[in-house]
Amino acid sequence: MNQSKCRVCREPAIIDLPRHNANFCATHLEQLCRRQVERAVHDHDMLAPGDRILVAVSGGKDSLAVWDLLLELGYRADGLYVGLGIGSYSDVSGEHARAFAAERGQRLETVDLRERYGYDIPTASKASGRVPCSACGLSKRHVFDRAALDGGYDVLVTGHNLDDEAAVLFGNTLRWDIDYLARQLPVLPAAAGFPKKVKPLIRLTERETAAWCIVRGIDYLLDECPMAHGNRHLAYKEALNAVEARSPGAKAAFYHGFVERMAPLLAARDRHDVGGDPDADLLRACTSCGSPTTAEVCAFCRLVDTSSEHDPVPVELVLSKSARRAYHEQLS
Ligand code: AMP
Ligand code: FES
Ligand code: ZN
Ligand code: ZN
Repeated sequence: MNQSKCRVCREPAIIDLPRHNANFCATHLEQLCRRQVERAVHDHDMLAPGDRILVAVSGGKDSLAVWDLLLELGYRADGLYVGLGIGSYSDVSGEHARAFAAERGQRLETVDLRERYGYDIPTASKASGRVPCSACGLSKRHVFDRAALDGGYDVLVTGHNLDDEAAVLFGNTLRWDIDYLARQLPVLPAAAGFPKKVKPLIRLTERETAAWCIVRGIDYLLDECPMAHGNRHLAYKEALNAVEARSPGAKAAFYHGFVERMAPLLAARDRHDVGGDPDADLLRACTSCGSPTTAEVCAFCRLVDTSSEHDPVPVELVLSKSARRAYHEQLS
């Protein structure tokens, strides 16, 4: 049999990457991942050498990989784990995040939604009538912002990878959602009430971050969130994967072409036509928590109000029939 060889050293390869038209051994896969992160950080001015960094870690491959990569590259980075209360999925994800932090001797801050705010995501979804991912996104954004600002961090890092960003871009483009498109950037600068936020994995796919974790011996949570089962985001990913299989490199070209050529046009439109973020002038401090909001009380505080009064709802109750079946399969 014809054993494929690493493009760099000609030793046996462990992974083929059609978009790079090459195979790599473990050592040179690590080198590729490091270089892609360095390049993203450099090209988009994401991090400065002495920055205090907070990495949002879910216990999945991407956020553990980005934390590991930044430590490898010599950055100081603490972790932040948010306990979302999504049944056994959350229990196991927390264990992975804590195990990684303990092994590396790194600091991991934990914010458990039920302990801190008196609700969890299944309950919030039921109580507010929001789809779970919307209640979850709102909660995570608020907790990330607060933790980064209160902890005096210079920047908040998330593990969004090329597949995630391309899928979100695809969805926003299908709807021509110009406001979302204008804000879908690898770096969001700090603003009043918001920390700087960056995505250093935009040059790596999820297959590559998974390979990084395997090569580095990082034990990560394999399961997808049960509440994401069948959602549109996954459908966009599958559609892009079908295109990528026919035409390797298409996904990267789609996303990076947007960032390089389209995003500047949208930013110029924002500056000229509406004077920056269209909501920026309307922002004021939430009367309950002080976070920026266009209403009197921010959406997060309203979610806490409705959800913390509600009896706890187990995750199975908010899953569709097919999602419940998949969840039980995961558990068995
Ligand atoms: P997701 O929203 O699941 O697509 O995750 C996007 C990114 O948000 C991940 O790569 C993490 O950086 C972060 N994240 C997701 N879930 C959590 C969590 N429970 N705690 C902390 N960070 C998270
Ligand atoms: Fe947020 Fe699944 S992780 S709804
Ligand atoms: Zn090699
Ligand atoms: Zn508030």
